[in-house]
Amino acid sequence: MMSAILVSILAVSCCKEKEEKFDTQKALDYCVEKTQKTISNLADVDSLPRNIYSNQTQWNKVGIEDWTSGFWPGILWYAYEASGDTMIEKEARKFTSLLEPLAYGEPLDHDLGFQIFNSYGNGYRLTKDSAYKEIIISTANKLSKLYNPKVGTILSWPVMVEKMNWPHNTIIDNMINLELLFSAAKNGGDQHLYDIAVQHAETCMHTLIRPDYSTFHVAVFDTIDGHFIKGVTHQGYADSSLWARGQGWGIYGYTMSYRETGKVEFLETAMKLADVFISRLPEDGIPYWDFNDPDIPNAPKDASAAAVAASGMLELSEFMKDESDKLKYRNAAIALLTKLSSPEYLSGDTNEAFLLHSTGHKPKGSEIDASIIYADYYYLEALLRLKKIENNDK
Ligand code: GLY
Repeated sequence: MMSAILVSILAVSCCKEKEEKFDTQKALDYCVEKTQKTISNLADVDSLPRNIYSNQTQWNKVGIEDWTSGFWPGILWYAYEASGDTMIEKEARKFTSLLEPLAYGEPLDHDLGFQIFNSYGNGYRLTKDSAYKEIIISTANKLSKLYNPKVGTILSWPVMVEKMNWPHNTIIDNMINLELLFSAAKNGGDQHLYDIAVQHAETCMHTLIRPDYSTFHVAVFDTIDGHFIKGVTHQGYADSSLWARGQGWGIYGYTMSYRETGKVEFLETAMKLADVFISRLPEDGIPYWDFNDPDIPNAPKDASAAAVAASGMLELSEFMKDESDKLKYRNAAIALLTKLSSPEYLSGDTNEAFLLHSTGHKPKGSEIDASIIYADYYYLEALLRLKKIENNDK
């Protein structure tokens, strides 16, 4: 009798363990299939998916100047990487080439990295097409025009200089744009693109990141002597609060900056940012849009923050020498992906996106509890990163 009970307990716990193991391939297949469906709905369209509100089923689209324009081509490149489907590759090339005009002229803002690295950067990584490399270098040179050597960062939003009286402003999101500069510098671009990226990451480490390793959204600097005036918010709840996606950008950006430079202080910063993110997560595992919104637990969630952080932490975990640190970041990322892949967050047949429940700009009242293209991009990127880790572990 006793042994029968024991066997059944073991059987239950063994099956439970099986049930609980995250199925990376299933999630990747879901993304590829949804991408194929969206492609067929987008035939002959030359604008790019950005968001879907809860009363809609299809992507609302934007032009190439929108800061999110690189995510759809990026998803196509990742879906091609995951599947080898040459029809998707054809679409990836088509939508990537739409963005070429962004490589020339004067920069409007810092988002060129999001736009061109996700599209042309992924395209170059997968195809080694030399024309893509030229676009990357040209755009990086254009982005570098926003660099202020007195401050040591790239200006994020020229439009906010007068509007908000932020003489030189740099947002935590801007860490992601550095990947374009690093990529250009190592593929034939000028060394100063690398130097600018390193200086930007260093300056932000001492200004956008607070002593407790939470982050400001915006750092405002003086243009006469370059000093840091104040940290404020634009998309978060308050100047002193912790905007969830901003913390995700920080984790992702400092991990990537470590990969590109080998500078240990960037790695340590990424770890501390990740520790804060993990420690502030609510019980159900997905962050609210801002960790300090007083409306919690009734505040909106942000699946995009979870996806960005998961992708960043998977890369971070691979740089860990200590096995327990490696497992800490890997398991935290898998926990985020598991929750995002549950019926609560997967869009399934609800709409064309992969994921539901992201928050774009709560203070402006826009994209609240919506499907947003960058949540899908970082979700798919994280799945591919996890798949590679699993394959290497075999
Ligand atoms: N880069 C803008 C955002 O994260 O919403």
